[in-house]
Amino acid sequence: MDALDGIIKQSELAINAAEDLTALDLIRVQYLGKKGEITALLKNLGTLSPEARPQFGQIINQAKEHVENLLTARRNTLEVAALNQQLQSETIDVTLPGINSTVGSLHPLTRSLQRLIEIFHSLSFKVIEGPEVETEYYNFTALNTPEHHPARAMHDTFYFADGRLLRSHTSPVQIHYMQNHEPPFRLIAPGRVYRRDSDMTHTPMFNQIEGLLISESGSFAELKGLLQSVLEQFFEKKLDIRMRPSYFPFTEPSAEVDVAWRSEDPTEHSRIHTKWLEILGCGMVHPNVLAACGIDAKRYSGFAFGMGLERLVMLRYGIPDLRLFFENDLRFLKQFA
Ligand code: FA5
Ligand code: MG
Repeated sequence: MDALDGIIKQSELAINAAEDLTALDLIRVQYLGKKGEITALLKNLGTLSPEARPQFGQIINQAKEHVENLLTARRNTLEVAALNQQLQSETIDVTLPGINSTVGSLHPLTRSLQRLIEIFHSLSFKVIEGPEVETEYYNFTALNTPEHHPARAMHDTFYFADGRLLRSHTSPVQIHYMQNHEPPFRLIAPGRVYRRDSDMTHTPMFNQIEGLLISESGSFAELKGLLQSVLEQFFEKKLDIRMRPSYFPFTEPSAEVDVAWRSEDPTEHSRIHTKWLEILGCGMVHPNVLAACGIDAKRYSGFAFGMGLERLVMLRYGIPDLRLFFENDLRFLKQFA
């Protein structure tokens, strides 16, 4: 019995001092486990006289129950504390300002290109692509622009050391396609082109949308009608369009199309001027170009055009300087969200 009192006192101290559930379980094993101290006393009952057994059995069982109760109470306390600590560390302060996830938007050029592609799709034009790194053959020679032809100087072309170049227009895509397909053709080829150029209406990289329509009955009137229709759909209004005779080696006759826009001139007391901005070049495909692609120029004819995408977007949104498209200034881009 002396031993039992000591065991109870020690277990009480140990249980109260237990800092966590693991420590508490070790204490349970120490006293109540298979080889525990109280279990050992119960096992020893057999050594007592039969008369003494019930009495001592009862006392030891009470002690066992007492320790079990203490363990349960302590376990509850520790569990509640652990839960509170977890809740504390995981609280959410709903009064804190939220983290905004800002939604981006399409770049005005992307958006406008998508619109133009839709417009051309609705007119049964197919979209194709070609390489940005080209050979002189595709960029010039096959387009009826032989070496030393003065028109090569019209494009300030970027050359690589090996003689290849960054395409200066999307017209070479026509050649790739015509070499590998049979007419009729009705397609557009949008893409980046490169020139040594830089001012308010010229950048060293810009986008063109090439168009090609070859059939047995292609005519200049059809070209004019198509352009008028596409441009009015794109700008969603009637336009002042001017078709000006021009020269391209790969088309004959050739023209350039200008669109009227109004600008304020601060040097002349903000007088409003009408100015013309060139948006595209076009013309009837030269028979030499068709021949270079193995197409019978007696049977087939048609037209081609090359639109400046940036110029169209400048006019549509009233953007004064083309360079704004490439500076990634959020104040500019957010206006198109
Ligand atoms: C051409 O590039 C011809 N390949 C177009 C063509 C295609 C004619 C098929 C006939 C048949 P041009 O150099 O004029 O032509 O350029 C076409 C358009 O690209 C211009 O009208 C203009 O809108 C745009 N453009 C030209 N240079 C720049 C530049 N540096 N920055 C932005 N846009 C430009
Ligand atoms: Mg031009």
